Amino acid sequence: MITVVGNLKGGTGKSTIVFNLAIWLLHKSTRIKVYDLDPQATLSDVAELRSEEGFKPFLSVTCCLPEHSFEETLIDIGVSNTEGLYAALAQADRIIIPVSPSQADVWSTQRFLHVIRTASKKTPILYAFINRADTHPTALENAETEAALRQLGELEVLSVRLAQRVIFRRSFSEGLAVFELEPSSKASQELMALAKAVYGEK
Ligand SMILES: Nc1ncnc2c1ncn2[C@@H]1O[C@H](COP(=O)(O)OP(=O)(O)OP(=O)(O)O)[C@@H](O)[C@H]1O
Ligand SMILES: [Mg+2]
Repeated sequence: MITVVGNLKGGTGKSTIVFNLAIWLLHKSTRIKVYDLDPQATLSDVAELRSEEGFKPFLSVTCCLPEHSFEETLIDIGVSNTEGLYAALAQADRIIIPVSPSQADVWSTQRFLHVIRTASKKTPILYAFINRADTHPTALENAETEAALRQLGELEVLSVRLAQRVIFRRSFSEGLAVFELEPSSKASQELMALAKAVYGEK
């Protein structure tokens, strides 16, 4: 299956999600191929850091699109690479859309759905979920954003949320997935719930 993690907005957690899901799949001994189609190359940088630190399992990241599908392929995209974005969407079996809890992000997701319709050659499964969820107990934005995403109709809104947590930033600076950094943390539980929602138990 080819999975693209994307949306039109910057900084919503695409590379963070690809990195953490890729490491989760590697720990499950899944044969994966991971692509970084973003000129910013964040994913390639974190994979290089992980390799320099000698952390196992080793994550290999490449930048040219696949000719044949692996057991699981994960693609990180960047909107400044339009050609790569369209090529990835054309091949996607599954598209995961991390959305921050705000109206602007709902609008941007709506536009992204239009781009997906234009670019897709298959009929991909579309998942959206809230990343950087507000952890304040009285915050309404998470639920409101999920409700607005459901109204868009075309995608499955996962009940999983990844909260706004420092450990997700540390994941990049240390080259480790959140469940490697702190296995019993809330972030680890959230990431595993996301992985299981997308890939099942493996
Ligand atoms: N749930 C979270 N909690 C806290 N920080 C987060 C979370 N998700 C992502 N971040 C941080 O937000 C920043 C942007 O994340 P990331 O680079 O994954 O987004 P992106 O969508 O790939 O960005 P770009 O569009 O620039 O490629 C990073 O510093 C990352 O560590
Ligand atoms: Mg990125």
